Formats: sequence, C-alpha cells, structure tokens
Amino acid sequence: MRPVNTKSIEEMFNSISSKYDFLNDIFSFGLHRFWKRKLLDLLKPTFGEKWIDLCCGTGDMSILLARYMKSSENITGIDSASQALLVARERSKQNYPSIEWIKGDALETNLTSHQFDGLLMAYGLRNLSSSYAGLREAFRLLKPGGRAGILDFRSFEGRSIRGLFQEIYLSVYVVPIASLFGLGKEYSYIKKSLIDFPSGEKQIHLALSAGFKKAKYKTLAKGQMGILLLEA
Ligand SMILES: C[S@@+](CC[C@H](N)C(=O)[O-])C[C@H]1O[C@@H](n2cnc3c(N)ncnc32)[C@H](O)[C@@H]1O
Repeated sequence: MRPVNTKSIEEMFNSISSKYDFLNDIFSFGLHRFWKRKLLDLLKPTFGEKWIDLCCGTGDMSILLARYMKSSENITGIDSASQALLVARERSKQNYPSIEWIKGDALETNLTSHQFDGLLMAYGLRNLSSSYAGLREAFRLLKPGGRAGILDFRSFEGRSIRGLFQEIYLSVYVVPIASLFGLGKEYSYIKKSLIDFPSGEKQIHLALSAGFKKAKYKTLAKGQMGILLLEA
C-alpha cells in the first residue's frame, strides 16, 4: 500500500476540481494536452471501439478520446470525485453528450469483466492506494488483446539531475503558484504521491504480474513523464 488514503484523495480532488484544468495548463505550460494526445497516437483508438478512462477527473482525457475517435459513443469515464465529474459532464454535454460519467472507485469499479477494447488512465495510477490493484482492475476490464495506456509522472530513485529538476519544479513552481489560489497544501501532495510510486521497469513488472501479456514503458518531457503501454 502507498501513502495515500482513498477518502482523503476524493475530498482533495473535489476541493480542487473547479481550478484543476486551469492550474493544469499553468503547471504543464499547456503541454499536458500534447502528452495526452501522444498517448492516443500510441494506442490508436478507432471508431466503434469501447473505451474506459479510469480516474477521468474533469474529463480531459475522455473528451480528447471522443475527439480522436470522432464519436462520444462507447466511452466511459470513471472517477471517485463527484465534483470533478460535474465539471466533466458540463464540459462534454454539448459536443460529446454520449460519454458516460460514472462515480466509482478505480480499484473496484464493479463493471462487467472483459468488456472494453481499450483503457486510459492519465495521472491516476499515482493516486491509487495500490498501483498493483489498479492494474489488476484495468486488466479485468479489458477484453483479451485489449490495450491500455497509463500516463503519469515518473518517479526517481536516489540522486539524479532529473529527480532534482522534479523536486525544484514541484517546490519552487507548482506549490507556490497553487498557494496563490489557496491550494498549496493540495498541490504539495504531488510530491507525496511520488513516494514509492513505481516507474519504468517496476511498472512493467507490476503490469505483467497483474496479468497483462505485454508491457512497454516510454518516457516523455525529457524523462519527467512516463507512458506505460499494455496489452491484455
Ligand atoms: C490528477 S487527477 C487526473 C485527472 C485526469 N485523468 C487528467 O488527466 O486530467 C487524478 C484523478 O484520480 C481520481 N482518483 C484518485 N483515486 C481514485 C480512485 N480510487 N478511484 C477513482 N478515481 C480516483 C481523482 O479523483 C482525480 O480526479
């Protein structure tokens, strides 16, 4: 188990939901859109397939997916934070009305097994109390041969220039700016969520032990972000 508590995570994401997208743009200089788009380019979701976005938050990834597939049919977004889902519903109701938004736990969705062709999770895995349990549930939801893409920060072990950069970025840029909006405490959580968060080979190993047949890990943003690509 990682140092995160499911209930307090839900409350935290509810409290930041109205400013989440705005701050995401500031903190990533808008680049999170490019990384999410890259995830889709790697997975190539196609029209008619059934996809799920775990930890969908305010719906960014699901909406991008609908735009990519040129249809909002057969897309489900699931998140535990009801306020974030309200934002997602509002954002999607005009152009992507068929996306189904569900309040639920990514560790135990209670959805039927092996029904999805594809699965996405952007910046969600790090927030789960068990990355392994999250990957197990992802595997359970996918059809045999189904594909998944998981985008998140990379964690660094020991001392490294990239690790130092991440530390400076979080403590000198992210937290002070979030504090200007009264959300310093909430955003200082990012650093905590990276403690013991597996990256690279460790994520690959976890995914294979969760049942996936194939797993690959790619880095983005000069090694600051990672994409885990999976086949069930
Ligand atoms: C950093 S946000 C990412 C949101 C969105 N995927 C994006 O990329 O903009 C993480 C999301 O994970 C959700 N989350 C955390 N733990 C969860 C769980 N156990 N089940 C479902 N959602 C969870 C939070 O509520 C939050 O909306």
